[in-house]
Amino acid sequence: EAPPSTHVDPFKLAEPDLRPLSDSIKDLVGIDHPVLNKVARHFFDMQGKRFRPTILLLVSQALGSARDSPAFTRQKRLAEIAEMIHTASLIHDDVIDVSDMRRGARTVHKIFGNKVAVLAGDFLLARASVLLARLGDTKVVELMATVLEDMVHGEMMQARAEPDDLLSFEHYTLKNYLKTGSLISLSCQSAAVLSGAQADGALGVAARDYGRHLGVAYQLIDDLLDFTASEEQLGKPALADMASGLATAPALFAARQFPEMAGLIKRQFSQETDLEAAYDFVQRSDGVAKSRRLAEVHAQLAISNVRALPGRDETVKQALTQLCHDVLNRRA
Ligand code: FPP
Ligand code: MG
Ligand code: MG
Repeated sequence: EAPPSTHVDPFKLAEPDLRPLSDSIKDLVGIDHPVLNKVARHFFDMQGKRFRPTILLLVSQALGSARDSPAFTRQKRLAEIAEMIHTASLIHDDVIDVSDMRRGARTVHKIFGNKVAVLAGDFLLARASVLLARLGDTKVVELMATVLEDMVHGEMMQARAEPDDLLSFEHYTLKNYLKTGSLISLSCQSAAVLSGAQADGALGVAARDYGRHLGVAYQLIDDLLDFTASEEQLGKPALADMASGLATAPALFAARQFPEMAGLIKRQFSQETDLEAAYDFVQRSDGVAKSRRLAEVHAQLAISNVRALPGRDETVKQALTQLCHDVLNRRA
């Protein structure tokens, strides 16, 4: 489907609230210990895409919060908490994956060592938890605590997958939801709760499902870019997933077309020519195209939930729709 005719840049639209938010995160993590301070600053100065805060600020407005309302103040805090959780998970993830580079720079554990990286991630989570408690809403605490549980669960599914799991699309889909979808989904639902909606009412569910489908689309595109984008574009090595033994959507689709692919997936591309052979199967299959189509389905499902949000500002809703198209079109 064609993108909406009037182009709204979601990141520009959220910018006035995003800028103070970054400074605020730096203050919020500012603590006595100089090393943790340095780590936090290193990471938050890098400025990622700030995808999650952008979504949350826009969803909050689409839920009806005026930018000068008390509800929006709390939703901005929620956006900071989500970004802190995301950052903590990446710092830990780079230790687990032994990744040297992220966002075109050396990773925290590369610069400061594993001990500091583990502690810095823990510290960010602890600080996020304090801020979460201060919001004073037990439903929001429950939702965001569930995110932490989900992320660890997803990471564990990946770390301890059996050969049959590796071939299973269900396993892959659930793992993706837990690792990536849950944070976006349940923080959008939390934003709805902070706007006064019931978590499981129509608005809570619309916000949650917008986040969930957008998150799933995002991860699917991430997985196919690993096959199609170069190292320079990504700021990290391409084909990294298969090199680390992981079969993502393009590889799983390819296995349906080329049964020989299944064996390679099950042994996690561990033999010498496996990577090359697997890449070849993916290229000859329509795995990448099918993955893209699946991402498009999820992006459309996300968009269908935007209409259910009650905010009167059509520009904000257009931005949320645009975000879904941007996710599909991103190159790195
Ligand atoms: C990146 O995935 C990693 C995640 C989305 C989640 C990582 C979760 C943990 C390490 C569990 C601990 C959780 C918390 C909240 C501290 P990736 O390695 O597939 O992608 P990459 O290319 O960005 O490294
Ligand atoms: Mg990683
Ligand atoms: Mg990982």
